[in-house]
Parts: sequence; structure tokens; C-alpha cells
Amino acid sequence: MNDQIQFVPVSTRAEVAQILDLQAQNLASVLSAETMASQGFLTVRHDPGVLQRMNEKTPAIIAKAGDRVVGYALVMPRDFAAEVPVLLPMFDMLDQLSWKGVALRNNPRWFVMGQICVAEGYRGLGIFDGMYLKMKEVYRPEYDFTVTEVAERNTRSMRAHERVGFQGLHTYPDKTTGNVWRVVVLEF
Ligand SMILES: CC(C)(COP(=O)(O)OP(=O)(O)OC[C@H]1O[C@@H](n2cnc3c(N)ncnc32)[C@H](O)[C@@H]1OP(=O)(O)O)[C@@H](O)C(=O)NCCC(=O)NCCS
Repeated sequence: MNDQIQFVPVSTRAEVAQILDLQAQNLASVLSAETMASQGFLTVRHDPGVLQRMNEKTPAIIAKAGDRVVGYALVMPRDFAAEVPVLLPMFDMLDQLSWKGVALRNNPRWFVMGQICVAEGYRGLGIFDGMYLKMKEVYRPEYDFTVTEVAERNTRSMRAHERVGFQGLHTYPDKTTGNVWRVVVLEF
């Protein structure tokens, strides 16, 4: 199956539109409690214009089955934070943290992996791992690591992130969403 999947950076508007479709299908607001518990869920919905600009600057890594986008992992550098106001508190929080003795605030060589999703029917097939492998290959020349946060109750996503090598950096409760977030780092 994985032979038929291509891992590539986003290059067209049609791919960005497909990312938005996949996102819409996996938001916590449209899923049952059972599906969220077994399959995971997304929290942030992106504005189409912002997502397009983000992908022009730093293309997401996508998994394609033919023309269909069946997975994506968004790439969001620090200087894009102001464009996604809902994520500004996260960047402010990251500014207080250090990785390997260097304050994130003073280090330009990392970005936030903004959101990852694999389409239903394509899960458990190595697509998650394939997207992170491709991300390392594409972004290693410019960046040393990526940071993301995963809701503690998204146990499927937590497990997958640990499996590919993400390490814990920080844990904090978010009163607005009721989630406890784990901030994790993957070195390139
Ligand atoms: C989270 C997601 C990206 C992971 O991709 P995937 O292809 O399903 O991941 P994998 O199947 O490779 O890995 C999932 C791991 O969790 C395990 N798992 C499955 N269901 C689980 C559950 N309910 N609780 C804990 N672990 C679970 C699997 O066994 C596997 O671990 P293993 O390799 O040790 O066996 C995908 O499920 C998804 O898109 N979910 C909806 C959106 C989402 O949650 N995105 C992440 C937001 S942070």
C-alpha cells in the first residue's frame, strides 16, 4: 500500500483545498466521543487564505494516493504566528521554553508542526511515519527540530508521536479547550 503513496511538499492550490477538506472531517466539533477516543481529533480550523500563504512560505508535507491528499503535516515557522491569532498564546508559551539549553525565543532553527492528519481508511499504514521522514529530509538544511503539541487525551496521536521519536518538553492545561497539552520535540 505504502508503495502507492507519494510523500511530497504541497505545490498546488488544489492540494491546500484538499487539506482543508480533510481538516473539516476531523475536527472535534464534528466527531462523536467514541471516534475521538479511538481515532483522534483536530482542534484548530485554519482560514483558507492563511493556510494558502503558509503553504507558499513553508509547504506542508502531504501524502498522496494518486491525486487525492490522504495525509498532511503543516509547517509553521515562528514568524508566521501573527497570522493565526488562535495560536499566538502557544507561541508566547513556547517563547518561555528552552531545548538543549537554548531558549526557543533566541533560536530560529525550529518550526511548529501545526497539525497532522491521516484520512480514515489510510490509518495504521505507515503514512504518519512517512510524512515525518519526508519532513526531516525537506527541512533539515534550514531547521534542527520541530515542535508540536498534542492533547493528552488524543492517545492515538500521542502514541504515534512517541513512536516516531518525539520527546517531551512541557505539559500544560488549557482552560479554554479543556485539553491538557503536551509540547513535544522531534530532532531532525
Ligand atoms: C493521529 C493520526 C495522525 C495518527 O496516524 P495513524 O496512521 O492513525 O497512526 P498509526 O496507526 O501509525 O499509529 C497510531 C498508534 O497508536 C496506537 N493506537 C491506536 N488507537 C489507539 C488508542 N485509542 N489509544 C492509544 N493508542 C492507540 C496504534 O496501535 C499505534 O501504535 P503502535 O505503532 O505502537 O501500534 C491519525 O489517526 C489521525 O489523523 N487522526 C485524526 C486527527 C488527529 O488526531 N490528528 C492528530 C492531532 S495532534
